[in-house]
Amino acid sequence: MNIYVTRPIPDSGLAKLRAAGHAVCVQSEDRRATREELLAGLATAQGAITMLDDRIDAEALDAGKNLRIVSNFAVGYNNIDVEAATERGIAISNTPGVLSDATADLAWALLLAAARRVREGEALVRSGQWHGWGPMQLLGWHVAGKTIGIVGPGRIGRAVARRAKGFDMRVLYFSRSNNEEIERQTGATRVPLNELLEQSDFVSLNCPLTPETRHLLGAREFAIMKPTAILVNTARGPVVDEAALVDALKSGRIAAAGLDVFEEEPKVHPALLTMDNVVLLPHLGSGTTETRSVMADLCADNILAVLEARRPPTVLNPEVLSAGG
Ligand code: DGY
Repeated sequence: MNIYVTRPIPDSGLAKLRAAGHAVCVQSEDRRATREELLAGLATAQGAITMLDDRIDAEALDAGKNLRIVSNFAVGYNNIDVEAATERGIAISNTPGVLSDATADLAWALLLAAARRVREGEALVRSGQWHGWGPMQLLGWHVAGKTIGIVGPGRIGRAVARRAKGFDMRVLYFSRSNNEEIERQTGATRVPLNELLEQSDFVSLNCPLTPETRHLLGAREFAIMKPTAILVNTARGPVVDEAALVDALKSGRIAAAGLDVFEEEPKVHPALLTMDNVVLLPHLGSGTTETRSVMADLCADNILAVLEARRPPTVLNPEVLSAGG
């Protein structure tokens, strides 16, 4: 069968597909596939591995006339219209679990970098203008013993919270329902969003992007955060109203931010690029060699399972399988 991969990924997953006898066609250039390339690639394929910025909507699914599975190379699947896929009997899978530690590590890298002004310190040393240690130089914010608020206590949120225990932090979390795992693992307390924002020194966004979480944080929410608070976003850019975030950072409504994701990637609000109190990364959450390799394997495993009529390990719409899809 034909498997279309919209961008080069680690070879381990591709090798599994080839070893099973499938023809694997990988988009040759390491850049986002154009819409035309995407539609043409899907048109030839029974299975596809897509990236988090490939828009898999009804049009794309219709282009894939023989498509049986779209295996998203990400845990987030806000780029995919799962309902439309289900209507068409196409399975959708993602990569939960295997990237939680890598993404939580990166959230902490951002948190610590923003709190301890790592970016500014590094720039000072590189500039040649550093004239030695100073008692008042680039003072940051203490981390240990403070309060962290986790918005979205899923696998990644819990991994962020577990790391906070190593810093003797109090953990609050916000979600629609109680999450026993985060409570058991970290002693976290569930609170309403307002309370989390009022009390947290660090706010870590770890929720999926859905219609309910779009612009979950905007001007009203920044207004109730502590002026010393630091926001960390490794979830999805549109969870934050980026223009409101810029205002909050400019006016000192909050102290700093560490951002791995942006509202309109790869565009970044131009004001953020000029601010000293933000640390900006190019969506590196799951970006370790080991993690990306396991993600590639999991994508392949999902495809192989669907094509061999077995249950895929991380399918999002299993109903299409029971319907014989
Ligand atoms: C995902 O997999 O959804 C993450 O954003 C990758 O970093």
